[in-house]
Amino acid sequence: MVRDLILKNRSYRRFFQDEPVSLETLRELVDLARISPSARNAQPLRFVFSNEPEKNALIFKHLAWAGSLKDWPGPEEGERPAAYILILGDREISPTFGSDHGIASQSILLGAVEKGLGGCIIGSIQRPGLQAALKIPARYEILLCLAIGKPKETVVLETVGPDGNTTYYRDEAQVHHVPKRALDDLIFDF
Ligand SMILES: Cc1cc2nc3c(=O)[nH]c(=O)nc-3n(C[C@H](O)[C@H](O)[C@H](O)COP(=O)(O)O)c2cc1C
Repeated sequence: MVRDLILKNRSYRRFFQDEPVSLETLRELVDLARISPSARNAQPLRFVFSNEPEKNALIFKHLAWAGSLKDWPGPEEGERPAAYILILGDREISPTFGSDHGIASQSILLGAVEKGLGGCIIGSIQRPGLQAALKIPARYEILLCLAIGKPKETVVLETVGPDGNTTYYRDEAQVHHVPKRALDDLIFDF
């Protein structure tokens, strides 16, 4: 069921770092993005893989994790993603990339969940630094970074309370809670 897959597809930020994610797996995931919708069917996205420690470490230091968890700087060594997929936009194909990278991200992450993996979309990226570190030509804009690995944390959804607070949090057992608004609060009839 699509709903089950979407429910399971939470933002995971702690992983079994020692569980490798192969390049073949990353290719299969990007193939899901390849067959996903693209505005004007321009297909301006390009993808860069990382699944080995040195490159992973280089990418990691340019990412910011869970801004709402003020006391948590991000996953510690041993709990970091085993792989990344960097999503780039080719400026020579299109000056803007609309929703393409969001759609691609969701396709990739749903595929990851189906494979028993999980991940997180990271938009908070030190872009100039990462672009230089990976020697990515200026023609390509860094759009998003997907962290991928075998999740090592439990994430649960709950319904937003009357105070309207949507801030995610971790409880004493380190379970990650994500408040989602109620369906009736999303659907309008003007
Ligand atoms: C476009 C986008 C950018 C995001 N950027 C970050 C990020 O930089 N760092 C991070 O830890 N999580 C990031 N997230 C994950 C969100 O925080 C997460 O989706 C939200 O807390 C809800 O949790 P859920 O995905 O489990 O429903 C991003 C999500 C999206 C859709």
